[in-house]
Amino acid sequence: MIQRSQLDLRKFVAPEFICGHGALQLAGRYARNFGMRHVLLVTDPGVRAAGWTDAVGESLTEAGISFTIFDAISVNPRSRQVMSGTEVYRAEECNGIVAVGGGSPMDCAKGIGIASSNMRDILAFEGVDRVPVPAPPLICIPTTAGSSADVSQFAIITDDVRKRKIAIISKTLVPDISLLDPEPLTTMSPELTVDTGMDALSHAIEAYVSNASSPMTDVHALEAIRLISSALPAAVREPHNLDLRFSTLLGSLHAGLAFSNASLGAVHAMAHSLGAACDLAHGRCNAMLLEHVIAANYEAAPDRYDQVGAILGAAEGGRGTPAENVAAFRRSLGVTETLAAVGVREDAIRTLARQAYADPCMVTNPRRLTCEDLERIYAYAL
Ligand SMILES: [Fe+2]
Repeated sequence: MIQRSQLDLRKFVAPEFICGHGALQLAGRYARNFGMRHVLLVTDPGVRAAGWTDAVGESLTEAGISFTIFDAISVNPRSRQVMSGTEVYRAEECNGIVAVGGGSPMDCAKGIGIASSNMRDILAFEGVDRVPVPAPPLICIPTTAGSSADVSQFAIITDDVRKRKIAIISKTLVPDISLLDPEPLTTMSPELTVDTGMDALSHAIEAYVSNASSPMTDVHALEAIRLISSALPAAVREPHNLDLRFSTLLGSLHAGLAFSNASLGAVHAMAHSLGAACDLAHGRCNAMLLEHVIAANYEAAPDRYDQVGAILGAAEGGRGTPAENVAAFRRSLGVTETLAAVGVREDAIRTLARQAYADPCMVTNPRRLTCEDLERIYAYAL
C-alpha cells in the first residue's frame, strides 16, 4: 500500500469556466476578448448535424469574428487528423481555436494548438510537460458530460503508425475558458450518454484512489461520484430534462478537476490500449474494465474504495463489495457486454497488457501492478 499524507506537496490547475444554460452563446464574446480575428472551429460531423456547430458559428459571427470549420475527426482522434487540422489552421491564418463537441474534437483542438505554436509533429509531445511553446487561445464547449477535456491538462491522441494511444499531459493544454451549457447534451443518444457518463465516473474513482490525490482533488472526486450515480440513470430516461443533464455536466466537471490534478490509474491505462487496438468508444472500454481493476486494486486503498462502493450502493440499493456495486450500476445502464463480445481475442491480451503497462496513467495507480497482473485483469473482463 502506498502511504499518503495530506502534507504532501500538491498543485491544482483549473481553467476559467462558465456553467449554466446559455453559456454556449458566450463563445463570440470570449473569442473577441481573447483577440481572435479568424477562428478554427473544431468539431465533428455528429455535433455539426445536431446543430451545435452552427449555433457557435452564429455567436462568432455576431461578435464580428470569421471562422473556418474543421470536422474531419473520428471517434478516437488520430495523429494524422491533428496534423491535417494544423495545416488548415496555418493555411487559413487562424489566431485562435474554438472546440465544440465531445472529447475527440476537444483533444484534437488541443493537439492542433500545440502542433501549430511549436511547428512540430503532434507525436513529439508524448508524456508529461513536453510542450515548450504555449498554444493559441482555446475555448472549449463540451457537448457530452464525460471526457472533461474542457478542464483537463490531458490530450489523448491515437498514433496512426504504431496503432496506440499516446497521452500528452501539460498545463499548456488547459483551455483558456470553457463554456458549460446543458442544452447541447440533450441531443446525445442514450448509448453516448452512458458511455461518456461511465468515463466521468471512472475519472472520479481513479482520481479518488490515485496515489497523487490530495484534499482538494478528493472533494471534487467524491462530489462527482455522488452527482453521476444519482443523475446519470435519470438523464438516460429523460434526455431532454435540462436539470438532470446539468447535474451530469457538473459531475463531469468535478471529475475533470479531480483527475486533471490527481491523474488516473490502471482503468485508463488499459482502456487506452484497448481503445486503440479495437477502435472502441473510450467510455465503453472503461465501463467494461472498471469493476475488474477495482477488485485487483482493492487492498491498496480499502477505505477509499469502500466509500466509493457505499455511494454507488446507496444509489443502486446494493450491499455488495465496491466492485459488485460498480458492476450493478453498469448493468443498470445497459452495459452488459464483455471484451470477447466486442471482438477482443484471448491471444491479443499479451500485447494489450504490454501497451497498458507503459501508459503514464499506471504511475498513479494505487497498487503496483505487473504486466502479468494486467493480463489477468483483461482475462477476467473477457
Ligand atoms: Fe477518460
